[in-house]
Amino acid sequence: MKLAVVGGGSTYTPELIDGFARLRGTLPLDELVLVDPDGDRLDRIGPLARRIFARQGHPGRISWTGDLDAGADGADAVLLQLRVGGQAARAQDETWPLECGCVGQETTGAGGLAKALRTVPVVLDIAERIRRRSPRAWIVDFTNPVGIVTRALLTAGHRAVGLCNVAIGFQRKFAALLGVAPEEVSLGHVGLNHLTWEREVRVGGADVLPELLAGHGEAVAADLRMPRALLDRLGVVPSYYLRYFYQHDEVVRELRQKPSRAAEVAAMERELLEMYADPALDGKPALLAKRGGAYYSEAAVALTASLLGGTAGDVQVVNALNHGTLPFLPDDAVIEVPAAVDTEGARPLPVRPLEPLFAGLVAAVTAYEHLALRAALEGGRDRVFEALLAHPLIGQTEPADRLTDALIAHNREHLPWA
Ligand code: G6P
Ligand code: MN
Repeated sequence: MKLAVVGGGSTYTPELIDGFARLRGTLPLDELVLVDPDGDRLDRIGPLARRIFARQGHPGRISWTGDLDAGADGADAVLLQLRVGGQAARAQDETWPLECGCVGQETTGAGGLAKALRTVPVVLDIAERIRRRSPRAWIVDFTNPVGIVTRALLTAGHRAVGLCNVAIGFQRKFAALLGVAPEEVSLGHVGLNHLTWEREVRVGGADVLPELLAGHGEAVAADLRMPRALLDRLGVVPSYYLRYFYQHDEVVRELRQKPSRAAEVAAMERELLEMYADPALDGKPALLAKRGGAYYSEAAVALTASLLGGTAGDVQVVNALNHGTLPFLPDDAVIEVPAAVDTEGARPLPVRPLEPLFAGLVAAVTAYEHLALRAALEGGRDRVFEALLAHPLIGQTEPADRLTDALIAHNREHLPWA
């Protein structure tokens, strides 16, 4: 089995390698290729990846290259974890929206739209090249904004599934609070990528969410940085991305007063890259746990194994086409729900009707994602403006106009039409 990781020069990669090494029983890799345009990073991360495999006794071969075509050749699956423009572009996404009173975040609101516009054309080009080399390869997309990027891939007919670590993070967290093994916990996770709620937490068939909230509501709320009373009133556990909606103005005030997350991450990346160059290092450093991507390797291993037939029929939370699962959304919307995964792809399981309290937001953000994808594919100031106007966190013409100008001004080098 051959796997390629596009964006293999990411400082996150050792997390992925560690997961591949630990879970080799689930995903028996023969060959892994790290693909990245940044040769300096590959020269640090490639050898470290080999040391991690060697230390854990993984027999798989690891190589690295800047040549996507060679890397994708003969791959059974390709993981996309790239970031167009790096942390510098992210720092912009997190900053200029704040000047208009809007949240500055890499996947939510105007910053998320900027990221989508930079990313969708690049990912589609990469996917096309993968398809030419390996027409049957599965694409597992971690590249944000995952909902929009996955919709772009699926609309273009690629064999793709979108993945995020929010659900697996909750599964692990709830399991620890309840004192059970993570595999025993299954979630009634519903919504769109970075816009989800846990409506059920099942252990042995029974929904224990009410007990979880009663017994551990404080801990869960503290983790999300939301008031406990909000969780009790909603009766569900929102993902921490809902903070950008439910506490928007408070978050804007907070963000205005501190350095961007991109700046924090860039500092961590410098430190990590130093560590990775040390030939004595043969595992993932503890510092990596301060990144948001906890457990992403485990989600990637489980999904890839199911797509390649190892654990076919498994249920996993993924981003896939709606196809009537949420009947108030178009069939070609991409939703994030539990799905049965096998070699034919991911099919969402039936979902009980979504309450208006959540459905309104899901419908509005889906419409925004549709317009965001159109803006990414067609370009043009009017398209950008429409997507921003449709976004429930923006919605007014004056800020939408200002945000449109700021987005274009800060991203000109990535937008050929601008
Ligand atoms: C979570 C999200 C990812 C996002 C990450 C950011 O894991 O699910 O989609 O990329 O957080 O983490 P960072 O450490 O880069 O802020
Ligand atoms: Mn995510």
